[in-house]
Amino acid sequence: MTNKYTVAVVGAGSISQAHMNGYNINDKNISVEAVVDPVENARKIFMDQYDVKKSYSSMKELFQDFTPDIVSICTWHALHHEQTVEAAKAGVKAIICEKPMAIGSGPAQSMLDACQENNVKLVISHQRRFTPGWEKAKEIVENGLIGNPLFVELKALEGLLNWATHNIDGSRYIIGDPDTEWVFGSVERTTNKFERDTRIEDSCMGLIQYKNGIQSFVQSDLAQYDYESQWKTNHPIFIRGEIGALDITEYEVKFLGGNNRGWETIPADIPKEKIDPIGGDTNGKLVKELVDWLNGGDDHRCSGDKAKQTLDIMMSIYQSARINEKVFFPVSEDSYPLDLMFDEGKIPLNKPERYDIRGFLDRSDIDEDDYNRLKKQGIPHHQIMQKVKRI
Ligand SMILES: NC(=O)c1ccc[n+]([C@@H]2O[C@H](COP(=O)([O-])OP(=O)(O)OC[C@H]3O[C@@H](n4cnc5c(N)ncnc54)[C@H](O)[C@@H]3O)[C@@H](O)[C@H]2O)c1
Repeated sequence: MTNKYTVAVVGAGSISQAHMNGYNINDKNISVEAVVDPVENARKIFMDQYDVKKSYSSMKELFQDFTPDIVSICTWHALHHEQTVEAAKAGVKAIICEKPMAIGSGPAQSMLDACQENNVKLVISHQRRFTPGWEKAKEIVENGLIGNPLFVELKALEGLLNWATHNIDGSRYIIGDPDTEWVFGSVERTTNKFERDTRIEDSCMGLIQYKNGIQSFVQSDLAQYDYESQWKTNHPIFIRGEIGALDITEYEVKFLGGNNRGWETIPADIPKEKIDPIGGDTNGKLVKELVDWLNGGDDHRCSGDKAKQTLDIMMSIYQSARINEKVFFPVSEDSYPLDLMFDEGKIPLNKPERYDIRGFLDRSDIDEDDYNRLKKQGIPHHQIMQKVKRI
């Protein structure tokens, strides 16, 4: 019998639920032993919900007590770097860290370095790479149905680092993770906008030149589209190839080929009603591939080095706007270019009041009795947070 890998989940908020789905689906190989969160009530609810026995208010306390095999980092972006490095140095075997990988190419590189030095496998939670629609699109491209891909078009909302990280990364998966030659970008930030405590843009766009000749255009917070409808995606990917085109969602692929047949829908291998882009089987497959990797299998499709390429592209959109030039790879700016632009006065504000589009998730100052009362009514976490913050 093979040993089970032990897990500690760091950050018991919304996305930790998706990680738990992934672990629970793999419960023959995985045992979640501990949760870390500074908020006592968040730890308590998590322990009750998932029958987890140990809890800590910090990673330091966790590692003083024991070293799990795997750590899930489910905290806000700015903590991903230091918590990944801390876990790698503590001697874990693997880390699943949430997206975006880090705030800046330098911190992301130091995550890779710490993992390599300590022989730790790093996975970044671009879990949509496991959605059946995106897998089907990869299969279609690899089977040559659209010929060589020529151009990739991506649209996202609510911040480049927040949503566009998924479809930049997913499109790279579908076209075979090509190396990047350069990125050219433009950024607008006239309001004092943040997302989970990280400075973000009002809108931006970028052109990516891959070394294999493919170009990709990404626009964030510029397109108007109806992502609320059930089968529409908030991460659309459109690929034009030499002899055909694909319109891709996590649920299915629309194919435009020859024969005057117009757009044909190619279903994914799983009925779209059963596909969950966050949690469920999607996170289940991400965890399974990590277990296989730990047991000597192939590199993970969401490995840290692949995610670093995606992060460098996003950082280069900002950096290009900062220097008004193309940014050639490998990147040389380690810091977060949007912060640098702000400090240099390059993106002056018309509206100085700071606002955070995910600020309602900040649990550090809420009335936890109010939270528990609403939780008992079966209200989901995001809605509870909006109610207790009176948004
Ligand atoms: N992969 C996806 O599809 C996806 C979807 C949603 C969110 N995310 C990412 O997940 C991350 C977390 O987002 P969320 O919506 O779950 O946030 P959240 O606010 O719901 O949860 C964060 C939790 O971290 C806890 N925390 C704060 N400081 C901590 C510390 N030092 N140590 C341990 N825990 C700490 C908070 O108390 C909170 O419970 C973000 O980076 C976000 O981008 C990814």
